[in-house]
Amino acid sequence: MTKLLIIGSGGREHAIGIALKQSNKNTTLYFAPGNAGTALLGSNIAINATDINGLLSFAKESNIDMTIVGPEDPLVMGIVDTFQKENLTIFGPNKLAAQLEGSKKWAKQLMKNYNIPTANYHAFTDYEKAKDYIKANNQYPIVIKADGLAAGKGVTIATSQNEANNAIEECLLNKKFNDAGTEIIIEDFLEGDEASIFAFTDSKVILPMLAAQDHKAIGDGDTGPNTGGMGAYCPTPLVTPEMYKKVTETIFEPLLQAFQKEGITYKGIVYAGLMITKTGDISIVEFNVRFGDPETQVVLPLLKTDLLTIFEAIETETLANISLEWSTESAVCVVLASGGYPNAYQKGKPISGLTQKKENTAIIHAGTKQDNGNIVTSGGRVLGVVSKASQLDSAITQAYETTTNISFENMIYRTDIGQKAKRYQ
Ligand code: AMP
Ligand code: GLY
Repeated sequence: MTKLLIIGSGGREHAIGIALKQSNKNTTLYFAPGNAGTALLGSNIAINATDINGLLSFAKESNIDMTIVGPEDPLVMGIVDTFQKENLTIFGPNKLAAQLEGSKKWAKQLMKNYNIPTANYHAFTDYEKAKDYIKANNQYPIVIKADGLAAGKGVTIATSQNEANNAIEECLLNKKFNDAGTEIIIEDFLEGDEASIFAFTDSKVILPMLAAQDHKAIGDGDTGPNTGGMGAYCPTPLVTPEMYKKVTETIFEPLLQAFQKEGITYKGIVYAGLMITKTGDISIVEFNVRFGDPETQVVLPLLKTDLLTIFEAIETETLANISLEWSTESAVCVVLASGGYPNAYQKGKPISGLTQKKENTAIIHAGTKQDNGNIVTSGGRVLGVVSKASQLDSAITQAYETTTNISFENMIYRTDIGQKAKRYQ
């Protein structure tokens, strides 16, 4: 029996758990802290994802064979280094490698040094200098980003000098993001459509996964504020086979070589957030050092290769022996969120419709918890309804059939997940 500890509590971690449960090997799963869905797959342990010492003690005491890190915070804090010092097996990049997501300036510098396509940028710690740059540059929109981790809220797309100055002031003077905003980068606005491609790497080879597309805005037709992601589908025709090859050759391979040349061992997932312009040019919007959410909920169900075998090959640096096999189906995920999200929302609402069973459809839990025998809401993104079918349209229909049978007070969701695909066909 292989004992696995999965760190995190979102839809991503539930989806990783489901994929690991399907492994040919027998597994016992632990989630820290997990949600009401992961509790049905394994045991939830009440330790937070950033309580590195608590997680370390649990992994030792419980003889965990491998720990898998879902979110970025513990990776950027150096959980992998801490576990490895104690000779524990853990899946994810170490602290040095995790700077790729932990510092936008570091990532931009690496991309620039190794000719990985990305928007031009300047870094600032000084408020006046940043303001002067905005004034002299005088091009809008312009993008202002806090250097460090800001839970997805550190990016402002400013459409005027006033908005840009406000964003700079909030970061550098008002310390809105605390230490994460001591430095900012100001970068050119990229126009186009976004896609996400994840890759597995063992530091020697890098294997890209299928391309997915997230739906970041809260409202139908990509309206309203950005969220963590309101739905996704995979594969996306936005990324043509030629572009996919180009991403491998001009982004993933050079990135791996960059890490090798810098003497940094990168093992785990690389997440390439791509902008694809109307003319087919590809640029990196950001790299992340973990699986994305909700995209993971649609990528992993299409992966036919045993996920645990892949994780083990990464650990032993034998990923070259593996070739990824994929289903030819399409998968779609509709996120059900709490009314008010991405701003303030209420929690603790009982959820109904969770026990329905439909073939090729899974209800993935994100912000849910057990409360006196009921499952209630406990976050902004509450559930992901994931369906797969031979055609994307059928997967979309199936996912919405299940969605309409789920309810909780003030439940919201987008009704157009996956429709963008038609624009690219
Ligand atoms: P990030 O946290 O860097 O991924 O940024 C969050 C979101 O802001 C991205 O997914 C994009 O939608 C948008 N964004 C970030 N940088 C740019 C850019 N240079 N041009 C256009 N949109 C951007
Ligand atoms: N889906 C966006 C993210 O995981 O960062």
